[in-house]
Amino acid sequence: MKILVTGGLGFIGSHTVVALQNKGYEVVIVDDLSNSSLSVLEGIVKITGKTPIFTKLDLKNKNHTSEFFRLHNDIHGVIHFAASKAVGESVENPLHYYENNINTLVYLLQNLSKLPYQNLIFSSSCTVYGQADELPITESAPVKKALSPYGNTKQIGEEIILDTCQSVPKFKSISLRYFNPVGAHPSAEIGELPIGTPQNLIPFITQTAAGKREQLSVFGDDYPTKDGTCIRDYIHVMDLAEAHIVALERLLSKNMNKNFEVFNVGTGKGNSVLEVIKTFEKVSGQKLNYKITGRRPGDVTEAFADTTKVNKELGWEAKFSLEDALESAWKWEQKQD
Ligand code: UD1
Repeated sequence: MKILVTGGLGFIGSHTVVALQNKGYEVVIVDDLSNSSLSVLEGIVKITGKTPIFTKLDLKNKNHTSEFFRLHNDIHGVIHFAASKAVGESVENPLHYYENNINTLVYLLQNLSKLPYQNLIFSSSCTVYGQADELPITESAPVKKALSPYGNTKQIGEEIILDTCQSVPKFKSISLRYFNPVGAHPSAEIGELPIGTPQNLIPFITQTAAGKREQLSVFGDDYPTKDGTCIRDYIHVMDLAEAHIVALERLLSKNMNKNFEVFNVGTGKGNSVLEVIKTFEKVSGQKLNYKITGRRPGDVTEAFADTTKVNKELGWEAKFSLEDALESAWKWEQKQD
């Protein structure tokens, strides 16, 4: 079966392509290379021994997108990763985010709803919950007003897909709400490749340990948590990639309760920033240079998943630990220039 992966050269996309190819799917990647590199394709080939079909495509270009789907009308399913994801950048340039994350989704849905198979997996985020009132966070927790245009694009994206599933009879979709994806493939052939200064915790930690950054800032130690730092649910990207496979198989086997379903994808465990630092120091043997600074605007205090629904209905659970994830991220970092 032929599966289209948009943004397939990105961090989560590339690991999912590897998982798909290992399962015997034929993969077609589109990526505009705005936040990824063609070298990722080489990493995928090294790991799997298979070369996916690759087309450089900017989904914002409506005509090019329609042309692509005319050529690939035998796609059985789409996993849609292509999107911008930097929270701060989205606050500075919201229209870029709405164009890049929403217009592209609309064009994709317009084309997909004309194909024989209309199966879509959407990359969503736990950011849709904001600061949830109850922890762990279940899928029925209310979606709160987004704290950033980026977060808003995930909420609006889910609504657009829900409306499409309700109006186009054959259209089916699963939205995966990721908690904090981290780590790299154990081979260190693919991993997270942030352009410029990393905004996320783990690449900032590994780059600091590698000497590329002088010091990590811990954004606040006065939160009402066990050690005062924020708590997140860090999920290994290898586990996350597998969650896409089981979700895809649910779509393809038409084994769904509703035409549109959402699942949390996390480990169910919360770790504080200081715990992540300690764990990194343990697995890498490196002493990390860090200091406590002020809070980062927009950060929620605590977010970790209730994984009951994804465990039960998708039969998926995280297998890798935070140690595994940080070890693989460190191995990957050491391979970079
Ligand atoms: C954010 C987004 C999430 C998005 C993800 C990927 C929100 C609420 N969350 O997650 O939707 O999918 O980015 O881009 O918008 N930290 C430091 N120092 C640093 C960096 C981070 O202390 O240099 C702390 C943060 O305060 C936070 C934790 O580390 O407590 C994780 O931060 P980060 O990796 O940026 O992820 P989120 O903000 O949780």
